Amino acid sequence: MKYIIGNWKANKNVTEAQQWIDSFLQLDLSRIKPSVQAILCPPYPLISLVKEKLKNVSFLHIGCQDTSIYYQGAYTGEVTAHTLSGLVEYAIIGHSERREHFRETDSMLFDKVKHLQQVGIKPIYCIRGIDDKVPQGAQYIAYEPVWAIGSGSAESIENILHLKSQLHLQPDVAFIYGGSVTEENAFHFLENNEIDGVLPGGASLDPKRFYEIMLTCP
Ligand code: PGA
Repeated sequence: MKYIIGNWKANKNVTEAQQWIDSFLQLDLSRIKPSVQAILCPPYPLISLVKEKLKNVSFLHIGCQDTSIYYQGAYTGEVTAHTLSGLVEYAIIGHSERREHFRETDSMLFDKVKHLQQVGIKPIYCIRGIDDKVPQGAQYIAYEPVWAIGSGSAESIENILHLKSQLHLQPDVAFIYGGSVTEENAFHFLENNEIDGVLPGGASLDPKRFYEIMLTCP
């Protein structure tokens, strides 16, 4: 199984999401190999739309990009694990943009993971490098070096594998790479037996590019 995780970040509105969906559904989806599991992570308000319109695309699953540090209750404006239960299967947690712009700490992120696990949502836990702690029971770890995000230059396979070896992950943990993944370089990550998937941000905003990344899957 290879995971192709699209992170739309804080992009798109209803009209643009609808256009993405329309274009994506025009593509020849029968060319996608059974080994591909795509996970699309739109902003919260677009999740229901994307989920409903793409419900017949069997290889595509829905995720979100964060959750509250609270489980539920009097926290106006928050989107909690309780609210997300039944809506998404996955949640990106600990993205470096959240750690940086919203001052999220390991302890806040571990709480988020705990709440998600309580409702059966699978956290895709992002680390920037070996200094970021990995929470207990995390089944999906995404290595995303900050300098590679949105920069146009991706990390080398050699360095990705070196980082992975330092993590001492259980064999059943999926190890994913993110940072300037494109339709041109995705194959190098996906063909490697040690890398279980990729997490494109910018390239996932264009349905054709997201599709072409999936097509590179061996
Ligand atoms: P990028 O973003 O593919 O645009 O580099 C990846 C990410 O930040 O998840």
